Amino acid sequence: MLDIQKIRADFPILTQKVNGKQLVYFDNGATSQKPKVVIDAITKYYEEINANIHRGVHTLSQLATDAYEVSRGKIQQHINAKFPYEVIFTSGTTHGINAIANGFASILKEGDEVLVSALEHHSNIVPWQMLCEKTGAKLVVIPMNDEGELIISEFDKLLSDKTKVVTVNHISNALGTLNPIKYIIDKAHEFGAAVLIDGAQAVPHLKPDVQELDCDFYVFSGHKICGPTGVGILYGKEEWLRKLPPYQGGGEMIATVSFEKTTYADLPHKFEAGTPNIAGGIVLGTAIDYLNEIGFENIQAYEHELLEYGTKRLLEIDGLKIFGTAKEKTSVISFNIEGVHPYDIGTIIDKLGIAVRTGHHCAQPIMDFYQIPGTIRASFAFYNTKEEIDIFVEAVKKAKMMLS
Ligand code: ALA
Repeated sequence: MLDIQKIRADFPILTQKVNGKQLVYFDNGATSQKPKVVIDAITKYYEEINANIHRGVHTLSQLATDAYEVSRGKIQQHINAKFPYEVIFTSGTTHGINAIANGFASILKEGDEVLVSALEHHSNIVPWQMLCEKTGAKLVVIPMNDEGELIISEFDKLLSDKTKVVTVNHISNALGTLNPIKYIIDKAHEFGAAVLIDGAQAVPHLKPDVQELDCDFYVFSGHKICGPTGVGILYGKEEWLRKLPPYQGGGEMIATVSFEKTTYADLPHKFEAGTPNIAGGIVLGTAIDYLNEIGFENIQAYEHELLEYGTKRLLEIDGLKIFGTAKEKTSVISFNIEGVHPYDIGTIIDKLGIAVRTGHHCAQPIMDFYQIPGTIRASFAFYNTKEEIDIFVEAVKKAKMMLS
């Protein structure tokens, strides 16, 4: 059992008032709040060991490098990667996906197919579209049903020897659907396709085991798991990371440079051009330690309670429709109220101190599927409470009354 009040005390922002009201932060799908231990670790880094990494023989550079590499090791352990060099630091999920999609430009040819799911965030659609434009490969969509689940029988039918890449999110950001990625990975592998999993919305709720999943790539962002923005992780199987060309050229990613020829550094540096977000990389390890201390099983069980409670309470409101009713889903409730624009609800409840996301959630194809302009999305984290859900439901009722 979690001591929620004790956990809440770890997050300074949660005591803030917004627009004169106690903050209710239900926009965790967009970014998580940060515990004091992470905020303090950032300050400590800049106060005590700030230096560039992998470059200097001086003491500070070595201390910073060690801390960065210790963090890489923590992340390796957390996701159960086989080797530390399979863990690449990126600026976030979008960077990770672009690095891989770009790498496949040297592999794909006309007639090849990239399977992408109907449930994707734009960041897992557009880089693949760009790849297809470049190579003449075709983007093929795994369809979804009304509940917001992928239609797996259709996925089975779409797979063929032409399929070179399958790219799917672990959890949908807009609807919260938990996708059957193990099945998808195994099935895609039967056809020799590489599989990328966008884990951005999954890692706040669960601990992925990349070896057990057997995915070829798994990407996520640090800021959704209590870390800072501007840092993320690209996990890739060694064989793929060796095979794919680097995404960016620059310092740090080379072995030798001359005007005639450059050779690339070994993994992971081949994919880490330029000075990275050093503090971000280091404190991502701190954030992961913090979450593991709370325990992902505890987090999941508690968030499930919040999901059930929030769903039940919201459905008390006449004319409210929830989008995304998958059997397997995490603590995200996307909804609309008949005759009311989502932005208007979002704006009114913001005045009451409540933060939710409204709009298409960077997943326009999902909104097109439901023929809606967007939704109101409440996404809960382990530091939220049922009392906050009550405040939220009353605020939505009030907004509805004002708008109808
Ligand atoms: N992808 C983030 C979200 O779903 C920003 O809100």
